Amino acid sequence: MNLLRFDSEEAWVSAVASLWRDRLRANPHLRICLPSGNTPKRIFAEMGRAVAAGWATFQHAEVFALDDYGGLAPDDQGRCVNMLRRLLLAHIDLPQYRFHFIDTDAPDLDQLCRDYDAAIGAGFDLTLLGIGLNGHLGLNEPGTSPDSTTHRVRMHESTIKASAGYLTHANLPTWGVGVGLKHLLGSKEVWLLANGAAKADIVQRLLKGPAEVSVPASLMQRHPNCFLMVDAAAGALV
Ligand code: PGA
Repeated sequence: MNLLRFDSEEAWVSAVASLWRDRLRANPHLRICLPSGNTPKRIFAEMGRAVAAGWATFQHAEVFALDDYGGLAPDDQGRCVNMLRRLLLAHIDLPQYRFHFIDTDAPDLDQLCRDYDAAIGAGFDLTLLGIGLNGHLGLNEPGTSPDSTTHRVRMHESTIKASAGYLTHANLPTWGVGVGLKHLLGSKEVWLLANGAAKADIVQRLLKGPAEVSVPASLMQRHPNCFLMVDAAAGALV
């Protein structure tokens, strides 16, 4: 795993956005898997500015949402699809039909998972990931098989608690559907992103500890093209 540590959050945001622009220039048809949550917020805003300035275009790219919660209203601002729409898609030029998301309201979730796997098809060129405090990647909680594809998940207690930060009510989700580790490990390139002091411990564990299923992010140690990109606070212990 390659470690890129930046002196400040500003430097981290602008470096990640600049690398992302490079990848889009090199491959306009980039197939990208994206997380929601707090980690990518400023990076998404920066990409919106890049598109507005004409420095980047998503016109030929394809975006896949990493996961989504179940049991929330369709317009709930905490749904991952709505976070992605609000924080990124509203500010870039990606055609709607090139955005794939996980509709957890679908009547048949097994079919939904199969359909999402089929849409993912040959896989992702680039995957951006936040890191859960328990080491999860998306909804791949500790113990998830590295061979998992898109699947339904019962969320761990700390993941349920973390979801409160995205919601305006106390009706927290307990389950969701997410892209599996097989797709994430199979992505041609992966960026593990972390900012802020709260992530320092898990960043240390995933990088310096053994690669094991109890810390899903540590499995990226085996990925041949994975970059762990952190600001000074998240990288304080590595
Ligand atoms: P965060 O969440 O980006 O809001 O910190 C990351 C995660 O829990 O996967």
